[in-house]
Amino acid sequence: MEDTLVLIKPDGLKNHLVGEIIKRYEQDALDIKNMKLVAPDEKLLSLHYEEHIGRDYFKDLMDFMLSGSLIALVLSGDNAIERVRAINGKTNPKEADKGTIRGDLAEDLRHNLVHGSDSKDSALRELALWF
Ligand code: TYD
Ligand code: MG
Repeated sequence: MEDTLVLIKPDGLKNHLVGEIIKRYEQDALDIKNMKLVAPDEKLLSLHYEEHIGRDYFKDLMDFMLSGSLIALVLSGDNAIERVRAINGKTNPKEADKGTIRGDLAEDLRHNLVHGSDSKDSALRELALWF
C-alpha cells in the first residue's frame, strides 16, 4: 500500500470537473484517505513547486495556482503513485492519451487540471506539506 498526493487545480473547480476527476480515481479502486478544499498561499505553493523555481513558466504557474481554490486528496492503493500519474496522463494535454484526465478534459500545459506526486520521496514530502 502506498499514499500519494493529488491536487485538483483551480481549472478543475472552475469547469465543474471535480466529480468527473474523482470518479476516475475511484473507478481504478484507489481509496480516498483524506480530502479537503484549500486556498493555498504563495509560501505553500512555492514549497510544493520548489523544483520549478527559476523556470520561465514559474510565475504563470504560481498565478494560475493562486487563481482559485483547489482540492487536495490523499489517495491510497498498491502502486498508487504510478497509477495516479497514468490516470492523469502526460503533463501536456496535447501529448496525453485519450482516456486520461488531461487527454480528455484539460485545456493546455498550464491548465492541466491535476497534480500527482512523481515518486515515493515527493509523495512523502508533499503529503507533509498539504496534510
Ligand atoms: P511538471 O512537474 O513537469 O509536470 P507534472 O505536473 O506532470 O508533474 O510541471 C509542474 C507543472 O508546471 C505542470 O503540471 C504544468 C506547469 N508547467 C508549465 O506551465 N510549463 C512547462 O513548460 C512545464 C514543464 C510545466
Ligand atoms: Mg511534477
